[in-house]
Amino acid sequence: MHDPQRPMFFRSRTLSSWLFTALATTVTACVPPSTSFAASATDTPQWRSTLHYTPERNWMNDPNGLVYYKGLYHLFYQYNPHGNFWGDMSWGHATSRDLVHWEEQAVAMRANRTEEVFSGSVVADTRNTSGLGTANAPPLVALYTSVYKAGSGHEPGVQAQSLAYSTDDGKTWQQYVHNPVLTLNPESHHFRDPKVSWYASGGYWLMTAVVADAHVVKLYRSDNLVDWTFLSDFTLPDVPHRGALWEMPDLFALALDGDPTRQKWVMIVNVNPWSIAGGSGAMYFVGQFDGTRFVPDDVASASSDPAQYQWLDHGADYYAAGTFSNAPAGKALTIGWMSNWDYASHVPTSPWRGAMALPRELSLKTIDGKPQLMSTPAQSYESLVRRSAGRRIKALEVSSAMRDLAPLMHGAVQNIELTIRPGTAQRAGLIVRGSATGDTGTRIYYDARKQALVVDRSRSGNIWFSDAFSKEHIVDLPLRDGKLHLQVVVDRNSVEVFADHGRTAVTDLIFPSIDHDRTRVFAEDGDAMFSDIAVANPR
Ligand code: FRU
Repeated sequence: MHDPQRPMFFRSRTLSSWLFTALATTVTACVPPSTSFAASATDTPQWRSTLHYTPERNWMNDPNGLVYYKGLYHLFYQYNPHGNFWGDMSWGHATSRDLVHWEEQAVAMRANRTEEVFSGSVVADTRNTSGLGTANAPPLVALYTSVYKAGSGHEPGVQAQSLAYSTDDGKTWQQYVHNPVLTLNPESHHFRDPKVSWYASGGYWLMTAVVADAHVVKLYRSDNLVDWTFLSDFTLPDVPHRGALWEMPDLFALALDGDPTRQKWVMIVNVNPWSIAGGSGAMYFVGQFDGTRFVPDDVASASSDPAQYQWLDHGADYYAAGTFSNAPAGKALTIGWMSNWDYASHVPTSPWRGAMALPRELSLKTIDGKPQLMSTPAQSYESLVRRSAGRRIKALEVSSAMRDLAPLMHGAVQNIELTIRPGTAQRAGLIVRGSATGDTGTRIYYDARKQALVVDRSRSGNIWFSDAFSKEHIVDLPLRDGKLHLQVVVDRNSVEVFADHGRTAVTDLIFPSIDHDRTRVFAEDGDAMFSDIAVANPR
């Protein structure tokens, strides 16, 4: 892209990628997914996640077109079919019945001679409002961003919203003949990421899309997904992060504290850079939506730093998060891209680059007098954990020491739950993916002096691939009743920490050796109590 924030994109575009683009002529799927490739000496199977989706090969970024339809969860995503670097943006596709086990499908929409296919969303047009299917066989409809090239009839680099539809349940996609369906006047190079949902109280489709460099979310409505009418702009009175980009917006309703009579609206705005953990991250606002305008309850002042804003995740690797359309029981299920634009192009995995975070369920809870998003792993992941063989320790007191858990509680892929009472210890917590000698490992602990949860990946294996790879992520989190509950999802390439049943989440990529699988607890400068430690190996 042309953003000054991402010079790597230009550098990583090879001649062969341009040639491939020139040769590709269709946006509909026609190639079966790749299934087997010869391994190469540069491959990194030790970092291939088992609980998180990764494409078999090549580059992946944002989740796109998250939709549940006929018993299947569809995950489309920004994908380069031709290489392990950002470019030739197309929509990859994977499906799952349980949000944990994914099957890669054929590429859904390909970059071609005149455009690349940037992020967007998919809805099930069950009443065939678009007329692009039939009453008996309604279509899936995708709204995505076309990024035009020379020869397209638009100035190269222009971004506008286009429509594609599928009448075979998402397997193949046709472009709408009168694309784009929505463009700005004059056309913009930063107008992208349409997210569409059904606004039931108004009986119309609602779209949010960004003008990324202007920090504006634009809202539109439509009766047929083709003709869009402008509703309003959402921006901040004093943007504290000029120069950053707003991307991948999402607006949805949630019941506050589980009470359906107290509905609030949540606006997710992904911002890059300026995230709470540095680089890119998912910010959100809670407020009201009247069918035209979203008004946040309160917004921090211009001089604020990221800590005055609300974040879906406090780690470095959770971006472009959005919700599923048509999710069972109206749940707010999200997936985020587990990477950060600060260093995504340097992530040392091969033959793929990019992973999705664990699907999560969002809810809205009043904490300290303020509505806050709680995020927990999706129910189907929790069921998998409950079905897996687990090992438990009722209580373990540790005094200024580090303790190895039993060998059966070690592992490179684990779900760990425990309650920490830091007591008199200055720091108390866990080490995961530790080496036998104890000199490396990812530390997840409570810092009593700072009253904060810390994830420290400064000794987590390969940390040298980028200077921008941040080492420590700290979340202010006063203890409740002197204790902290943690759920830690450990995979071959990541840790995801959920504190106090969703009060905060921290997601970080890590690059340890595969044999670094020790799990330890530790207390520094005092006595800490660890209780109800449960370690499971979900598969
Ligand atoms: C977010 C983003 C989107 C864009 C896509 C391009 O990560 O920059 O704004 O549509 O990635 O791949």
